[in-house]
Amino acid sequence: MTVSKILASKNKEKIVMLTVYDFLTAKILESAGVDILLVGDSLGTVVMGYSSTLPVTMDEVIHHVRAVRSGAPKSFIVADMPFLSYGTSEEEGVFNAGKLIKEGGANAVKLEGGAERGGLIDAMTSIGIPVMGHLGLLPQSVNRYGYRIAGKTVEETDKLIQDAQTLEKAGAFAIVIEGTTEEAAKAVSGAISIPTIGIGAGRFTDGQVLVITDMLGMDPDNELKHNKKYADIHGAVLSAVQSYIGDVKSGKFPGEEQITHSS
Ligand code: KIV
Repeated sequence: MTVSKILASKNKEKIVMLTVYDFLTAKILESAGVDILLVGDSLGTVVMGYSSTLPVTMDEVIHHVRAVRSGAPKSFIVADMPFLSYGTSEEEGVFNAGKLIKEGGANAVKLEGGAERGGLIDAMTSIGIPVMGHLGLLPQSVNRYGYRIAGKTVEETDKLIQDAQTLEKAGAFAIVIEGTTEEAAKAVSGAISIPTIGIGAGRFTDGQVLVITDMLGMDPDNELKHNKKYADIHGAVLSAVQSYIGDVKSGKFPGEEQITHSS
């Protein structure tokens, strides 16, 4: 996968993106043929157990991007820019984006925000850093707006369209649309010529992304309307660990096949 292939897939083929944070899972996603691997700052909530993505640091993202790059050497990896790694000054944002590419091994970065990010994206793309935008529900702005669905009114939809057009003009190669009405995501997707990748944004985006731990059913306490559980990994791991506990307690493990005898 390359930026040109991602751009060319618009109106031709749906883009499949999944988040991933570790070596072994990255290996599985690469062999399955996922188009884009996203090391999301959702690692704060689903890997570190923080209550939001806000505490995630550059060092944490770089650490996880390296693990993912080891497991998926050929994949197109997008690294999320964590809160406060951009938005303070253009220089700092560009420098941190460069670090995710140079030290982490990512192919591109993703950052949240609308038209106000135009200058920053332009500066990043001008030195060869591919940028994915992120509009709609913005987890890094939770203290300002909460986790609220965007695009419920004509005015909000128009604002999303203008933001998307600014990101496109600034050089973004794709835009994540999170937590919007299906109608708003459809209108945004139709108003720009770069692909949109939706999460909780309905059927008409140019691709879809899910958080891997959500779609694998790893957290039974996390029921999300937009998510579809493709597996029950929580149940599978729980029952495997319970069997192991039972085997150790009863002396069934280790069995003859796991034992080495002296000759
Ligand atoms: O951090 C993340 O996982 C994301 C996805 C929800 C798109 O930004």
